[in-house]
Amino acid sequence: MKLSGNTIFITGGGSGIGRGLAEALHKLGNQVIISGRRKGHLGEVTKANPGMQSVELNVEDPASIAAVATKLIAEHPKLNVLINNAGIMQIDDAASTIDEGLLVSTITTNLMGPIRMTSALIEHLKKQDAATVINVSSVLGFVPLAMTAVYSSTKAAIHSYTQSLRYKLKDSSVKVLELAPPWVQTDLLNSNDEPRAMPLAQFIDETIKVLGTDTEEVLVEGAKTLRNNPGPGEAALVIQFNDTMEQPPH
Ligand SMILES: NC(=O)c1ccc[n+]([C@@H]2O[C@H](COP(=O)([O-])OP(=O)(O)OC[C@H]3O[C@@H](n4cnc5c(N)ncnc54)[C@H](OP(=O)(O)O)[C@@H]3O)[C@@H](O)[C@H]2O)c1
Repeated sequence: MKLSGNTIFITGGGSGIGRGLAEALHKLGNQVIISGRRKGHLGEVTKANPGMQSVELNVEDPASIAAVATKLIAEHPKLNVLINNAGIMQIDDAASTIDEGLLVSTITTNLMGPIRMTSALIEHLKKQDAATVINVSSVLGFVPLAMTAVYSSTKAAIHSYTQSLRYKLKDSSVKVLELAPPWVQTDLLNSNDEPRAMPLAQFIDETIKVLGTDTEEVLVEGAKTLRNNPGPGEAALVIQFNDTMEQPPH
């Protein structure tokens, strides 16, 4: 996609990957609007990046999504990029009773959130000369991490939804991209100091380079092995990957 001159709305821009993308895109000459539940985080990021704007949003709440979409369209008529990045990840145990709260909040945030957010903005985006929806999935949507079975399933679902959305918009001005990160050092699962995860700054640099091409799947090098989930070899890869993840880091 074109990396400058856009008006970009990003969910979950107050921390981690969302903040990294917001700051990189702000520096490249885009009007960026970040969002999330924690006002303090939003304020910290906008203060550090003069010109960036923010709005409070809870993607678990359809009324919040509708209100924010109305506000965005009124205040930013040139809005042409939506990045569905907000997400939560909790450890579960598929072999035991799944906590109802974890189940509902994970699916509501990670799957219904992006669907509702896109749905609320799509008619506006279609009116723009060139628009983009970027859905942040995960390599775990291609090879599940068994200790986060619900999370992994939401990411597989968002991959599926992204493909349907892309197909239905193929004759429109709206391009649909999927960003599937590998393990990145963020607050997600307390991975900030995790040596097996990719440093955030490196992930953002590499991602922005790929985003500047015309690819529909935004993958850094470290995401490719799991994304290229090998057809009939899938079952063996899922076992091998999960066995590896159960070992302590060397
Ligand atoms: N880090 C990784 O290894 C990794 C790998 C693959 C994919 N991803 C994906 O990357 C995305 C960003 O995650 P991250 O790693 O950057 O973790 P993070 O720092 O925890 O960021 C998640 C963001 O989502 C926002 N969020 C969560 N629930 C929300 C809600 N109900 N309404 C609005 N915003 C909400 C949070 O803001 P508030 O709490 O303030 O609302 C937070 O800023 C997620 O979709 C995640 O699944 C991450």
